[in-house]
Amino acid sequence: MLEIKNLSKEYGNNLALDNFSIKMEEGIYGILGANGAGKSTLMNLITDNVTRTSGQILYGGRDILEMGEEFRKIVGYMPQQQGFYEQFSAKAFIVYMAALKGIRGRKARQEADRLLKLVNLDDVAHKKIGSFSGGMKQRVLLAQALIGEPKILILDEPTAGLDPKVRIRIRNFISELSKDKIIIYATHVVSDIECIADHVLLIKKGRMIGMGTPSELIDGISGKVAEVTCTKEELNKLQQKHRFANVSQKREGLTLRVVGDDLPAEYKRVENDINLEDVYLYYFEYLDEKKAAENETASDETEDKHHEMTGDNSSDVSKENI
Ligand SMILES: Nc1ncnc2c1ncn2[C@@H]1O[C@H](COP(=O)(O)OP(=O)(O)OP(=O)(O)O)[C@@H](O)[C@H]1O
Ligand SMILES: [Mg+2]
Repeated sequence: MLEIKNLSKEYGNNLALDNFSIKMEEGIYGILGANGAGKSTLMNLITDNVTRTSGQILYGGRDILEMGEEFRKIVGYMPQQQGFYEQFSAKAFIVYMAALKGIRGRKARQEADRLLKLVNLDDVAHKKIGSFSGGMKQRVLLAQALIGEPKILILDEPTAGLDPKVRIRIRNFISELSKDKIIIYATHVVSDIECIADHVLLIKKGRMIGMGTPSELIDGISGKVAEVTCTKEELNKLQQKHRFANVSQKREGLTLRVVGDDLPAEYKRVENDINLEDVYLYYFEYLDEKKAAENETASDETEDKHHEMTGDNSSDVSKENI
């Protein structure tokens, strides 16, 4: 088991990861979050590429920093950035990366052959990586992450920049890997992990804002998703009312799909086909907006109280002037 306990990382004044805790068993963990949410930071901390500010990461009860080399050997990491060795052939690159993990000679070459076959690149094993397409490069990166059959596989946006067909292929490939591994898969695209993740973590500004199996998360917003059919003329008004909504063209007309806690009773509730996209919209957009509005009301109230106490209403006047 991999246990992360109250893990934080500060870059200067920027809290990139804020008191993050989770226990992970075997299975696929999808980490969903927008740009800058802290996904790569979390991965860099687990792979010990950056120094933590506070907290612990334990594997089998021992801190990974204490385990050192022993831990690095059971971790496979596919970084987000392609710091690539364009002059290397695919095979030479895997052999080189294997050496960094202490696998050398014939064993390394066999491992390279096995992995390149696994990611379907055996026929170009001797070609230079520089001549590969984006999808092929991603598969080389994935292959190197799999050296030595790691128990923990960390994938940082493994399908970024790929076309839909290749995305699906890589996603399916990853889903077949799991079983005896902890796979941590970061993405900002719901569909990447929708059908393959056993657990989904939602992170925002370094904080975990939701976690569960996909069905738990979906059950959690039951009754909070609805659809309303409208004309083109009505659409604009409705969109102003529900800023976070998906519009689609259906047979019965334009349909707005909205999420929220107090949706109007006349909207048709979506019951059986709530999906992770709705969960994403609810947590990342709706709740966020709601909280911001609440904070604003709270600070207005504080201001009002202040005015009551001081008899100062100058800010009201200035508001009117605006
Ligand atoms: N090396 C660094 N130095 C300073 N700040 C950093 C560094 N790496 C990340 N940050 C900051 O930490 C926060 C989290 O960044 P991180 O890269 O972890 O997000 P992310 O979820 O991986 O985003 P993306 O989807 O864009 O990859 C951001 O505010 C980012 O600017
Ligand atoms: Mg990142």
